[in-house]
Amino acid sequence: MAGVSTVYREGLFEDRVAIVTGGATGIGLGIAEALVQLGAQVVIASRNERRLVTSARGLSRDYGREVVPQVCNIRERPQIDALIDVALGRFGKLDYVVNNGGGQFMAPAAEIRAKGWNAVIETNLTGTFHMCQSTHARWMKDHGGRIVNIVADIWRGFPGMVHTGAARAGVVNMTKTLAVEWAADGVLINCVAPGTILSTGMHNYPPEIPMTAAAQIPLKRLGTVEEIADSVLYFLSPAASFTTGATLAVDGAGSLWGDGLEIPDRPEWKPDQIPPWPEERWPDLVPPE
Ligand code: ADE
Repeated sequence: MAGVSTVYREGLFEDRVAIVTGGATGIGLGIAEALVQLGAQVVIASRNERRLVTSARGLSRDYGREVVPQVCNIRERPQIDALIDVALGRFGKLDYVVNNGGGQFMAPAAEIRAKGWNAVIETNLTGTFHMCQSTHARWMKDHGGRIVNIVADIWRGFPGMVHTGAARAGVVNMTKTLAVEWAADGVLINCVAPGTILSTGMHNYPPEIPMTAAAQIPLKRLGTVEEIADSVLYFLSPAASFTTGATLAVDGAGSLWGDGLEIPDRPEWKPDQIPPWPEERWPDLVPPE
């Protein structure tokens, strides 16, 4: 920690107050650090108290300004309300909320049970909705503000993680709705959609993922935490004051190209699963093998 390079002006977020969920590790911690470095008062939230307190202490020590840790399970609305109240009670206002907290596990769709599906939807979609709604109700409907939702590279479906793909797609759509409904309140809300990012979050996946993923990305590398943090800062900065309801893909064009999940061969097509070859209409057309 300390001294992350940034293109943003020193003191840009001075006197601003921000909450970052999932702020104890990985991308969330990077976002929190970037905000602290640029002068913001930051509350970081996550479920794991030990990691949260360690990260808050580290940031406070490195930047000489207290970063507030608040344990919060975003699947519990009362804990969300308490998180917002802690920021308001401590700093008297709330300018920015970054909804980065979330999680998922790899599993083929056919094997996901109701409990796993519900957990991922409740965290990533419902939890993010409650964060937005509570923030709006408690502060932003009267004072405006900025919300950034961190989603994922879901544009071609999300093979291997259908639950989080569905949840994140829901967040993208929800963001558009809230941008319109809360525009008159001065709330600007956008999404950042990271591709594969080199961060501690990688530990949740098989070790070969980083190299395989890099080969599938046109820029031929993984993204960095700082690249995601800087994209979030853009949406929080004066540069984005006319942008709301948008989603920015920060993925090295990974969403535009690549094989993704390997598709197994399907040698045993039943006759009624294949449409008849249109020989009469195009007699010269050769059927595929
Ligand atoms: N990160 C992953 N799951 C979470 C949850 N339920 N609450 C807050 N942060 C999380």
